Amino acid sequence: MPMSSPSGPTTGRRVLLGISAGIAAYKSALLARLLKQAGCEVRVVMTQGAQAFITPLTLQALTGETVRTSLLDPEAEAGMGHIELARWADTILIAPATADLMARLAVGMADDLLTTLCLASDAEKVMAPAMNQAMWAHPATRRNAARLAEDGWRLLGPDSGDQACGDVGPGRMLEPEAILEALRVAEGAANTGKGPASGLTITITAGPTREPLDPVRYLSNHSSGKMGYALAEAAAALGARVKLISGPVALACPAGVECLEVETAREMHAAAQRLAPESDLFIGCAAVADYRAETAAEHKIKKVEGEDALTLRLVKNPDIIAAVAALPEASRPLVVGFAAETRDVERYARDKLARKGLDMIIANDVSREGLGFGSDHNAALMLWRGTAGEEQEHLAPQPKREMARAVMGRALACLAARTTR
Ligand code: C5P
Repeated sequence: MPMSSPSGPTTGRRVLLGISAGIAAYKSALLARLLKQAGCEVRVVMTQGAQAFITPLTLQALTGETVRTSLLDPEAEAGMGHIELARWADTILIAPATADLMARLAVGMADDLLTTLCLASDAEKVMAPAMNQAMWAHPATRRNAARLAEDGWRLLGPDSGDQACGDVGPGRMLEPEAILEALRVAEGAANTGKGPASGLTITITAGPTREPLDPVRYLSNHSSGKMGYALAEAAAALGARVKLISGPVALACPAGVECLEVETAREMHAAAQRLAPESDLFIGCAAVADYRAETAAEHKIKKVEGEDALTLRLVKNPDIIAAVAALPEASRPLVVGFAAETRDVERYARDKLARKGLDMIIANDVSREGLGFGSDHNAALMLWRGTAGEEQEHLAPQPKREMARAVMGRALACLAARTTR
Protein backbone atom coordinates (compact mmCIF):
# COMPACT_ATOMS: atom_id res chain seq x y z
CA MET A 1 0.00 0.00 0.00
CA PRO A 2 1.43 3.40 -0.94
CA MET A 3 1.19 4.78 2.60
CA SER A 4 4.23 6.98 2.59
CA SER A 5 3.61 8.65 -0.75
CA PRO A 6 4.20 12.40 -0.30
CA SER A 7 1.18 13.35 -2.39
CA GLY A 8 -2.23 11.87 -3.06
CA PRO A 9 -5.87 12.58 -2.33
CA THR A 10 -5.08 13.54 1.26
CA THR A 11 -2.65 16.31 0.24
CA GLY A 12 -3.44 19.61 1.87
CA ARG A 13 -6.24 18.23 3.97
CA ARG A 14 -6.44 19.84 7.40
CA VAL A 15 -6.76 17.05 9.90
CA LEU A 16 -7.46 17.65 13.53
CA LEU A 17 -6.21 14.51 15.24
CA GLY A 18 -7.95 13.89 18.57
CA ILE A 19 -6.32 11.47 20.97
CA SER A 20 -8.16 10.05 23.97
CA ALA A 21 -7.07 7.89 26.88
CA GLY A 22 -6.44 4.41 25.50
CA ILE A 23 -3.29 2.35 25.38
CA ALA A 24 -3.54 2.52 21.57
CA ALA A 25 -2.60 6.22 21.95
CA TYR A 26 1.01 5.18 21.47
CA LYS A 27 0.09 4.34 17.86
CA SER A 28 -1.30 7.85 17.33
CA ALA A 29 2.27 9.12 17.03
CA LEU A 30 2.77 6.93 13.96
CA LEU A 31 -0.64 8.00 12.64
CA ALA A 32 0.32 11.67 12.97
CA ARG A 33 3.53 10.97 11.08
CA LEU A 34 1.74 9.05 8.31
CA LEU A 35 -0.80 11.85 7.93
CA LYS A 36 2.02 14.38 7.59
CA GLN A 37 3.82 12.18 5.08
CA ALA A 38 0.60 11.90 3.09
CA GLY A 39 0.57 15.69 2.79
CA CYS A 40 -2.01 16.59 5.44
CA GLU A 41 -1.75 19.56 7.74
CA VAL A 42 -2.06 18.06 11.19
CA ARG A 43 -2.97 19.61 14.52
CA VAL A 44 -3.36 17.51 17.61
CA VAL A 45 -5.77 17.78 20.52
CA MET A 46 -5.30 15.43 23.46
CA THR A 47 -7.66 14.72 26.30
CA GLN A 48 -6.29 14.90 29.79
CA GLY A 49 -6.23 11.11 30.12
CA ALA A 50 -4.41 10.66 26.82
CA GLN A 51 -1.43 12.47 28.28
CA ALA A 52 -0.94 9.58 30.72
CA PHE A 53 -0.20 7.35 27.69
CA ILE A 54 1.80 9.63 25.39
CA THR A 55 3.19 13.13 25.88
CA PRO A 56 2.09 16.23 23.96
CA LEU A 57 5.77 16.87 23.28
CA THR A 58 6.00 13.70 21.14
CA LEU A 59 3.09 14.87 18.97
CA GLN A 60 4.44 18.40 18.84
CA ALA A 61 7.79 17.13 17.57
CA LEU A 62 6.08 15.03 14.91
CA THR A 63 3.62 17.66 13.67
CA GLY A 64 5.62 20.81 14.25
CA GLU A 65 2.55 22.37 15.88
CA THR A 66 1.67 23.11 19.47
CA VAL A 67 -0.53 20.38 20.88
CA ARG A 68 -3.76 21.60 22.48
CA THR A 69 -4.86 19.95 25.70
CA SER A 70 -7.16 22.36 27.47
CA LEU A 71 -10.29 24.36 26.70
CA LEU A 72 -9.55 27.00 29.26
CA ASP A 73 -6.00 27.90 28.29
CA PRO A 74 -5.81 31.70 27.76
CA GLU A 75 -2.43 31.51 26.04
CA ALA A 76 -3.48 28.86 23.50
CA GLU A 77 -6.82 30.59 22.93
CA ALA A 78 -4.96 33.81 22.14
CA GLY A 79 -3.19 31.94 19.28
CA MET A 80 -6.02 30.02 17.61
CA GLY A 81 -9.25 30.05 19.59
CA HIS A 82 -11.18 26.79 19.81
CA ILE A 83 -13.92 27.97 17.47
CA GLU A 84 -11.29 28.97 14.93
CA LEU A 85 -9.70 25.55 15.33
CA ALA A 86 -13.09 23.91 14.81
CA ARG A 87 -13.52 25.89 11.59
CA TRP A 88 -9.96 25.19 10.47
CA ALA A 89 -10.43 21.41 10.31
CA ASP A 90 -11.54 19.61 7.15
CA THR A 91 -11.54 16.36 9.06
CA ILE A 92 -11.70 15.56 12.75
CA LEU A 93 -10.11 12.18 13.26
CA ILE A 94 -10.20 10.69 16.74
CA ALA A 95 -7.82 7.79 17.25
CA PRO A 96 -8.07 6.13 19.64
CA ALA A 97 -11.67 6.89 20.62
CA THR A 98 -12.41 5.41 24.05
CA ALA A 99 -15.78 4.15 25.26
CA ASP A 100 -16.00 7.18 27.55
CA LEU A 101 -15.33 9.65 24.76
CA MET A 102 -17.86 7.91 22.52
CA ALA A 103 -20.45 8.17 25.28
CA ARG A 104 -19.78 11.85 25.81
CA LEU A 105 -19.93 12.60 22.08
CA ALA A 106 -23.08 10.52 21.64
CA VAL A 107 -24.96 12.76 24.08
CA GLY A 108 -23.44 15.96 22.73
CA MET A 109 -21.37 16.90 25.74
CA ALA A 110 -18.77 19.66 25.49
CA ASP A 111 -16.91 19.27 28.76
CA ASP A 112 -13.37 19.42 27.42
CA LEU A 113 -11.57 20.82 24.39
CA LEU A 114 -11.97 17.77 22.12
CA THR A 115 -15.71 17.29 22.68
CA THR A 116 -16.27 21.04 22.34
CA LEU A 117 -14.45 21.08 19.01
CA CYS A 118 -16.52 18.16 17.75
CA LEU A 119 -19.72 19.96 18.61
CA ALA A 120 -18.56 23.27 17.13
CA SER A 121 -17.21 21.89 13.86
CA ASP A 122 -18.98 20.88 10.68
CA ALA A 123 -15.88 19.03 9.47
CA GLU A 124 -16.04 15.41 8.31
CA LYS A 125 -15.87 13.29 11.47
CA VAL A 126 -14.15 9.97 11.74
CA MET A 127 -13.18 7.90 14.75
CA ALA A 128 -11.24 4.71 15.39
CA PRO A 129 -12.69 3.16 18.57
CA ALA A 130 -10.35 1.24 20.87
CA MET A 131 -11.30 -0.48 24.08
CA ASN A 132 -11.56 -3.78 25.90
CA GLN A 133 -13.74 -6.28 24.00
CA ALA A 134 -16.36 -6.47 26.78
CA MET A 135 -16.65 -2.67 26.80
CA TRP A 136 -17.10 -2.68 23.01
CA ALA A 137 -19.75 -5.41 23.27
CA HIS A 138 -21.64 -3.63 26.07
CA PRO A 139 -25.13 -2.49 25.04
CA ALA A 140 -24.33 1.06 26.13
CA THR A 141 -21.39 1.22 23.71
CA ARG A 142 -23.47 -0.42 20.97
CA ARG A 143 -26.11 2.28 21.47
CA ASN A 144 -23.53 5.05 21.44
CA ALA A 145 -21.85 3.69 18.29
CA ALA A 146 -25.21 3.53 16.50
CA ARG A 147 -26.11 7.05 17.57
CA LEU A 148 -22.74 8.44 16.49
CA ALA A 149 -23.14 6.78 13.09
CA GLU A 150 -26.60 8.36 12.82
CA ASP A 151 -25.06 11.75 13.69
CA GLY A 152 -22.71 11.35 10.72
CA TRP A 153 -19.62 9.93 12.40
CA ARG A 154 -17.75 7.32 10.39
CA LEU A 155 -16.48 4.58 12.65
CA LEU A 156 -13.36 2.77 11.47
CA GLY A 157 -13.01 -0.65 13.07
CA PRO A 158 -12.32 -1.70 15.71
CA ASP A 159 -10.17 -4.61 14.72
CA SER A 160 -10.38 -7.99 16.34
CA GLY A 161 -7.51 -9.84 18.03
CA ASP A 162 -5.19 -9.74 21.06
CA GLN A 163 -5.79 -6.90 23.45
CA ALA A 164 -3.33 -5.17 25.77
CA CYS A 165 -5.38 -6.39 28.76
CA GLY A 166 -4.92 -10.03 27.70
CA ASP A 167 -8.44 -10.48 26.26
CA VAL A 168 -9.03 -11.51 22.69
CA GLY A 169 -11.86 -10.08 20.56
CA PRO A 170 -13.08 -6.95 18.78
CA GLY A 171 -11.84 -3.71 20.32
CA ARG A 172 -8.31 -3.15 19.02
CA MET A 173 -7.74 0.16 17.29
CA LEU A 174 -7.25 -0.23 13.53
CA GLU A 175 -3.59 0.04 12.61
CA PRO A 176 -2.52 3.59 11.63
CA GLU A 177 -1.85 2.45 8.04
CA ALA A 178 -5.43 1.12 7.76
CA ILE A 179 -6.84 4.36 9.20
CA LEU A 180 -4.96 6.43 6.64
CA GLU A 181 -6.10 4.10 3.87
CA ALA A 182 -9.72 4.50 5.00
CA LEU A 183 -9.42 8.28 4.74
CA ARG A 184 -7.89 7.93 1.31
CA VAL A 185 -10.53 5.52 0.00
CA ALA A 186 -13.39 7.73 1.14
CA GLU A 187 -11.81 10.94 -0.04
CA GLY A 188 -10.63 9.47 -3.30
CA ALA A 189 -14.13 8.30 -4.06
CA ALA A 190 -15.80 11.54 -2.99
CA ASN A 191 -13.34 13.94 -4.61
CA THR A 192 -12.33 12.34 -7.84
CA GLY A 193 -15.77 11.03 -8.73
CA LYS A 194 -13.81 8.57 -10.82
CA GLY A 195 -15.11 5.25 -9.52
CA PRO A 196 -17.83 3.63 -11.65
CA ALA A 197 -20.05 3.58 -8.56
CA SER A 198 -19.38 7.14 -7.39
CA GLY A 199 -22.59 8.94 -6.53
CA LEU A 200 -24.31 5.66 -5.69
CA THR A 201 -25.38 4.54 -2.22
CA ILE A 202 -25.14 0.81 -1.63
CA THR A 203 -26.54 -0.94 1.43
CA ILE A 204 -25.38 -4.46 2.24
CA THR A 205 -26.43 -6.91 4.96
CA ALA A 206 -23.82 -9.38 6.19
CA GLY A 207 -23.11 -12.06 8.74
CA PRO A 208 -25.49 -14.13 10.84
CA THR A 209 -28.25 -12.90 13.13
CA ARG A 210 -28.58 -13.96 16.76
CA GLU A 211 -31.99 -14.75 18.15
CA PRO A 212 -32.02 -14.85 21.96
CA LEU A 213 -33.61 -17.78 23.79
CA ASP A 214 -32.77 -16.45 27.23
CA PRO A 215 -30.12 -14.03 28.59
CA VAL A 216 -27.28 -16.49 27.85
CA ARG A 217 -28.37 -18.53 24.82
CA TYR A 218 -29.29 -17.80 21.23
CA LEU A 219 -30.08 -19.37 17.86
CA SER A 220 -27.65 -18.52 15.08
CA ASN A 221 -25.68 -20.03 12.18
CA HIS A 222 -22.14 -20.43 10.84
CA SER A 223 -22.03 -17.32 8.63
CA SER A 224 -18.64 -15.59 8.98
CA GLY A 225 -19.69 -12.40 7.18
CA LYS A 226 -16.69 -12.66 4.84
CA MET A 227 -18.70 -12.49 1.60
CA GLY A 228 -20.73 -9.44 2.69
CA TYR A 229 -17.64 -7.64 3.97
CA ALA A 230 -15.82 -8.41 0.69
CA LEU A 231 -18.78 -6.91 -1.20
CA ALA A 232 -18.68 -3.79 0.96
CA GLU A 233 -14.96 -3.43 0.34
CA ALA A 234 -15.41 -3.90 -3.42
CA ALA A 235 -18.28 -1.38 -3.53
CA ALA A 236 -16.24 1.24 -1.62
CA ALA A 237 -13.27 0.70 -3.94
CA LEU A 238 -15.59 1.44 -6.88
CA GLY A 239 -16.42 4.79 -5.31
CA ALA A 240 -19.85 4.07 -3.80
CA ARG A 241 -21.06 5.29 -0.45
CA VAL A 242 -21.43 1.98 1.36
CA LYS A 243 -23.53 1.14 4.40
CA LEU A 244 -22.96 -2.28 5.88
CA ILE A 245 -25.57 -3.68 8.26
CA SER A 246 -23.75 -6.47 10.02
CA GLY A 247 -24.70 -9.21 12.42
CA PRO A 248 -22.09 -10.32 14.99
CA VAL A 249 -18.86 -11.27 13.20
CA ALA A 250 -15.15 -11.14 13.98
CA LEU A 251 -14.27 -8.83 11.08
CA ALA A 252 -13.16 -5.20 11.03
CA CYS A 253 -15.32 -2.64 9.23
CA PRO A 254 -13.69 -2.24 5.78
CA ALA A 255 -11.97 1.04 4.96
CA GLY A 256 -14.35 3.75 3.82
CA VAL A 257 -17.49 1.81 4.77
CA GLU A 258 -20.13 2.92 7.27
CA CYS A 259 -20.87 -0.04 9.52
CA LEU A 260 -24.02 -0.52 11.53
CA GLU A 261 -23.92 -3.43 13.96
CA VAL A 262 -27.07 -5.36 14.78
CA GLU A 263 -27.85 -8.64 16.53
CA THR A 264 -31.32 -9.89 15.72
CA ALA A 265 -33.21 -10.27 12.46
CA ARG A 266 -35.70 -7.69 13.64
CA GLU A 267 -32.93 -5.15 14.27
CA MET A 268 -31.48 -5.91 10.83
CA HIS A 269 -34.94 -5.53 9.31
CA ALA A 270 -35.45 -2.12 10.94
CA ALA A 271 -32.03 -0.90 9.76
CA ALA A 272 -32.68 -2.19 6.22
CA GLN A 273 -36.10 -0.53 6.07
CA ARG A 274 -34.51 2.75 7.11
CA LEU A 275 -31.55 2.62 4.72
CA ALA A 276 -32.97 0.87 1.63
CA PRO A 277 -35.23 3.71 0.39
CA GLU A 278 -32.20 6.02 0.19
CA SER A 279 -30.06 3.38 -1.57
CA ASP A 280 -29.55 2.68 -5.25
CA LEU A 281 -28.57 -0.92 -4.63
CA PHE A 282 -29.42 -3.28 -1.78
CA ILE A 283 -27.52 -6.52 -1.37
CA GLY A 284 -28.86 -9.04 1.15
CA CYS A 285 -25.88 -11.21 1.95
CA ALA A 286 -26.74 -11.89 5.60
CA ALA A 287 -27.65 -15.37 6.74
CA VAL A 288 -30.79 -14.27 8.55
CA ALA A 289 -32.32 -16.69 11.04
CA ASP A 290 -35.69 -17.68 9.59
CA TYR A 291 -37.18 -18.20 13.05
CA ARG A 292 -36.80 -16.72 16.52
CA ALA A 293 -38.12 -17.83 19.89
CA GLU A 294 -41.66 -16.52 20.31
CA THR A 295 -40.58 -15.09 23.66
CA ALA A 296 -37.02 -14.88 24.92
CA ALA A 297 -37.05 -16.02 28.55
CA GLU A 298 -36.27 -13.26 31.03
CA HIS A 299 -34.09 -15.60 33.10
CA LYS A 300 -31.85 -18.50 32.15
CA ILE A 301 -33.95 -21.51 31.16
CA LYS A 302 -33.41 -24.22 33.78
CA LYS A 303 -33.03 -27.93 33.16
CA VAL A 304 -36.17 -29.68 34.38
CA GLU A 305 -35.56 -32.85 36.39
CA GLY A 306 -37.41 -35.84 34.96
CA GLU A 307 -38.11 -34.14 31.58
CA ASP A 308 -36.17 -35.45 28.58
CA ALA A 309 -37.42 -32.85 26.14
CA LEU A 310 -37.81 -29.11 26.04
CA THR A 311 -40.21 -27.51 23.59
CA LEU A 312 -39.39 -24.10 22.17
CA ARG A 313 -42.00 -22.31 20.15
CA LEU A 314 -40.44 -20.48 17.23
CA VAL A 315 -42.05 -17.81 15.12
CA LYS A 316 -41.06 -16.53 11.69
CA ASN A 317 -38.73 -13.57 11.36
CA PRO A 318 -39.47 -10.89 8.79
CA ASP A 319 -37.98 -11.58 5.36
CA ILE A 320 -35.73 -8.55 5.13
CA ILE A 321 -34.86 -8.68 1.46
CA ALA A 322 -38.40 -9.48 0.36
CA ALA A 323 -39.60 -6.42 2.29
CA VAL A 324 -37.02 -4.24 0.50
CA ALA A 325 -38.00 -5.73 -2.87
CA ALA A 326 -41.63 -4.89 -2.10
CA LEU A 327 -40.96 -1.18 -1.53
CA PRO A 328 -42.86 1.18 -3.84
CA GLU A 329 -41.06 1.63 -7.17
CA ALA A 330 -40.01 5.22 -6.39
CA SER A 331 -38.04 4.20 -3.31
CA ARG A 332 -37.05 0.68 -4.32
CA PRO A 333 -33.34 0.04 -4.92
CA LEU A 334 -32.07 -2.68 -7.23
CA VAL A 335 -32.24 -5.78 -5.02
CA VAL A 336 -29.64 -8.53 -5.01
CA GLY A 337 -29.95 -11.64 -2.86
CA PHE A 338 -27.85 -14.63 -1.97
CA ALA A 339 -29.00 -18.21 -1.66
CA ALA A 340 -26.98 -20.78 0.24
CA GLU A 341 -28.20 -24.23 -0.75
CA THR A 342 -27.10 -27.78 -0.12
CA ARG A 343 -28.85 -29.26 -3.21
CA ASP A 344 -30.78 -28.28 -6.35
CA VAL A 345 -28.98 -24.93 -6.31
CA GLU A 346 -30.33 -23.61 -9.61
CA ARG A 347 -33.95 -24.59 -9.02
CA TYR A 348 -34.08 -23.07 -5.52
CA ALA A 349 -32.28 -19.93 -6.69
CA ARG A 350 -34.71 -19.40 -9.55
CA ASP A 351 -37.62 -19.94 -7.17
CA LYS A 352 -36.21 -17.40 -4.68
CA LEU A 353 -35.56 -14.83 -7.37
CA ALA A 354 -39.24 -14.95 -8.32
CA ARG A 355 -40.80 -15.50 -4.89
CA LYS A 356 -38.90 -12.68 -3.18
CA GLY A 357 -39.17 -10.34 -6.17
CA LEU A 358 -35.40 -9.88 -6.52
CA ASP A 359 -33.53 -8.48 -9.51
CA MET A 360 -30.54 -10.76 -9.11
CA ILE A 361 -29.48 -13.73 -7.01
CA ILE A 362 -26.14 -15.38 -6.30
CA ALA A 363 -26.56 -19.01 -5.36
CA ASN A 364 -23.90 -21.25 -3.94
CA ASP A 365 -23.70 -24.83 -2.78
CA VAL A 366 -22.60 -24.64 0.86
CA SER A 367 -22.16 -28.42 1.07
CA ARG A 368 -19.09 -28.23 -1.20
CA GLU A 369 -15.94 -28.73 0.81
CA GLY A 370 -13.68 -25.67 1.21
CA LEU A 371 -16.28 -23.27 -0.23
CA GLY A 372 -19.02 -21.07 1.20
CA PHE A 373 -19.59 -20.67 4.96
CA GLY A 374 -16.48 -19.59 6.86
CA SER A 375 -14.19 -20.16 3.86
CA ASP A 376 -12.26 -17.45 1.98
CA HIS A 377 -13.42 -19.02 -1.29
CA ASN A 378 -16.74 -19.40 -3.02
CA ALA A 379 -18.28 -20.66 -6.25
CA ALA A 380 -21.72 -19.62 -7.41
CA LEU A 381 -24.37 -19.32 -10.04
CA MET A 382 -25.45 -15.75 -10.72
CA LEU A 383 -28.98 -15.29 -12.08
CA TRP A 384 -30.50 -11.96 -13.02
CA ARG A 385 -33.39 -10.43 -14.88
CA GLY A 386 -31.80 -9.15 -18.07
CA THR A 387 -33.34 -7.08 -20.82
CA ALA A 388 -34.11 -10.29 -22.73
CA GLY A 389 -35.41 -12.30 -19.77
CA GLU A 390 -33.52 -14.31 -17.22
CA GLU A 391 -29.76 -14.55 -17.73
CA GLN A 392 -27.08 -16.44 -15.85
CA GLU A 393 -23.36 -16.82 -15.33
CA HIS A 394 -21.36 -19.46 -13.47
CA LEU A 395 -18.67 -18.12 -11.17
CA ALA A 396 -15.89 -20.71 -10.82
CA PRO A 397 -14.28 -21.35 -7.40
CA GLN A 398 -12.37 -18.19 -6.49
CA PRO A 399 -11.48 -16.01 -3.49
CA LYS A 400 -14.52 -14.22 -2.04
CA ARG A 401 -12.86 -10.84 -2.65
CA GLU A 402 -12.61 -11.63 -6.37
CA MET A 403 -16.15 -12.91 -6.46
CA ALA A 404 -17.28 -9.72 -4.76
CA ARG A 405 -15.83 -7.70 -7.63
CA ALA A 406 -17.61 -9.89 -10.19
CA VAL A 407 -20.93 -9.54 -8.34
CA MET A 408 -20.53 -5.77 -8.04
CA GLY A 409 -19.71 -5.51 -11.76
CA ARG A 410 -22.86 -7.41 -12.71
CA ALA A 411 -25.04 -5.51 -10.24
CA LEU A 412 -23.81 -2.15 -11.57
CA ALA A 413 -24.56 -3.30 -15.11
CA CYS A 414 -28.12 -4.25 -14.08
CA LEU A 415 -28.50 -0.89 -12.37
CA ALA A 416 -27.31 0.95 -15.48
CA ALA A 417 -29.73 -1.07 -17.63
CA ARG A 418 -32.56 -0.24 -15.24
CA THR A 419 -31.90 3.51 -15.22
CA THR A 420 -31.74 3.67 -19.02
CA ARG A 421 -35.01 1.78 -19.44
O1 C5P B 1 -32.68 -17.82 3.79
P1 C5P B 1 -32.93 -17.67 2.31
O2 C5P B 1 -32.28 -18.73 1.50
O3 C5P B 1 -34.36 -17.41 2.00
O4 C5P B 1 -32.11 -16.34 1.94
C1 C5P B 1 -32.06 -15.85 0.63
C2 C5P B 1 -31.85 -14.36 0.65
O5 C5P B 1 -32.82 -13.75 1.48
C3 C5P B 1 -30.51 -13.88 1.18
O6 C5P B 1 -30.15 -12.79 0.36
C4 C5P B 1 -30.79 -13.42 2.59
O7 C5P B 1 -29.92 -12.40 2.99
C5 C5P B 1 -32.22 -12.93 2.48
N1 C5P B 1 -33.04 -13.12 3.70
C6 C5P B 1 -33.53 -12.00 4.34
N2 C5P B 1 -34.34 -12.14 5.44
C7 C5P B 1 -34.69 -13.36 5.89
C8 C5P B 1 -34.20 -14.52 5.24
C9 C5P B 1 -33.36 -14.35 4.15
O8 C5P B 1 -33.21 -10.88 3.93
N3 C5P B 1 -35.48 -13.47 6.93
